[in-house]
Amino acid sequence: MDSLIEHLTTRNLAITGGIAFLVYYVVSFIYFAFIHPLSKVPGPRTWGGSRLPFLWSLVRGNLPHDLISLHRKYGQVLRIGPDEVTFSHPDAFNQICGPTGAQQFLKHPTWWRPFPGIPLSMIWSVDGDQHAYIRKCFSPGFTMRSLREQEPIVDRYVDLLVSRIRETIAPVGESGGEVDFLRWFNYMSFDVFGDLAFGESFECLERGDYHQWIANIFRHIKAMAGLASIRFYPTIEKVLVYVVPKSFRKAQQDHFQLVVDKVRRRIERDGFTRPDIMSGVMIQGHHEASGKDGKGLPLDIVNGTFSELTIAGSESTGSVLTATINTLIHNPGILATLVGEIRGTFRSEAEINFDTLRDLKYLNAVINESLRMSPPIRWLPPRQCPPGGNMVCGYWLPGGVRFLPRVAFHVRWDPNRVTDRHFHHLPADPTRSHIFS
Ligand code: HEM
Repeated sequence: MDSLIEHLTTRNLAITGGIAFLVYYVVSFIYFAFIHPLSKVPGPRTWGGSRLPFLWSLVRGNLPHDLISLHRKYGQVLRIGPDEVTFSHPDAFNQICGPTGAQQFLKHPTWWRPFPGIPLSMIWSVDGDQHAYIRKCFSPGFTMRSLREQEPIVDRYVDLLVSRIRETIAPVGESGGEVDFLRWFNYMSFDVFGDLAFGESFECLERGDYHQWIANIFRHIKAMAGLASIRFYPTIEKVLVYVVPKSFRKAQQDHFQLVVDKVRRRIERDGFTRPDIMSGVMIQGHHEASGKDGKGLPLDIVNGTFSELTIAGSESTGSVLTATINTLIHNPGILATLVGEIRGTFRSEAEINFDTLRDLKYLNAVINESLRMSPPIRWLPPRQCPPGGNMVCGYWLPGGVRFLPRVAFHVRWDPNRVTDRHFHHLPADPTRSHIFS
């Protein structure tokens, strides 16, 4: 016994621990790559046996590109982790997001969880009933009627965008110059959302620059991929909470506080008579809760949801508008057809509104194509297979498997997947076969 204790030096313990870890890693790799029920799903064995290739791709910012390459190689159903499958099949979205009740594919708690110190929001809520309740409280701001009422607010910023871009290009005139459309579209979408949510714009268009709050978001987006990848390792995540520098935590809190202040100012300011997103939440949230405990939708959730929505609703819109302009500039024929449709339909700017724009078949096709070619959210955070398991696109997925309904990708990487139903919005003319392809 004494001689055994003598040999238990720190060095020996480290070596023994290292060997034990290696053995564990190799055994679990073999199990997940070759024996686990998901081993029948196509995909590289290295990704199926270990989560590390996936995480490496995620933190380098390469995931969307790697997934396209892997889908090309392995097909429309692809295993990308020990318990993770991604789909690029046109039926995947309906099969994953369609089911209700016990068969529902709820949001997966590893991903859909607020970062420490930030309250719950609609987007991060994984509990089916709670999510449905929050969503119902937010829904009045998104009805067709409500959107029509919000139109004058949106118009104001679109007009400002056009005049600011004209001002920017005026000095260079015919000789040409550069316009950073991504910035201008983001200025507009953040300003619109700021107004619809908080009743005050971020004033990006007026200043011709990002509000500091928005600039910080873009600065932290890369760090967020790193933080997200740690979520697979709860022990590391717990330790990390203690080692994150105070300054980082403070920056995060200050960032959130801006939304809290904006929501408070908006609540203090008026009786929610203005037809915007916040009025809808406040009136419906109060109405919903009055039948329950009379307290209204908890303010924490309102703050959390507006914090998330400010980014989700603005950056996504800015990105897809930029992608649309970019693709049109590189496809002069399509641009000319689109201009022709618009000029042939309207005699003056005054005739252009949400309702009349909905009837423009070619314009809507262009927008849908842009969303298909350049989806702003390229990697949908995963859903969880229901406890009893389920079939998706011909593959049996055991309960609890994390996977992604990757509907945005399937037609991009494989032009043959473009079926008529993706083009139902296009007139039957030759353009349908090559728009943006
Ligand atoms: C082109 C623009 C947009 C794109 C491509 C986009 C895309 C998405 C995607 C992919 C999701 C995740 C769906 C899921 O997996 O459940 C999502 C969720 C969401 N988006 Fe957008 N979005 C856009 C604009 C907006 C705007 C303008 C708003 C609001 C002003 C908005 C509000 C939301 C909300 C509230 C959710 C969460 C829904 C829920 O949890 O039930 N989005 N969006």
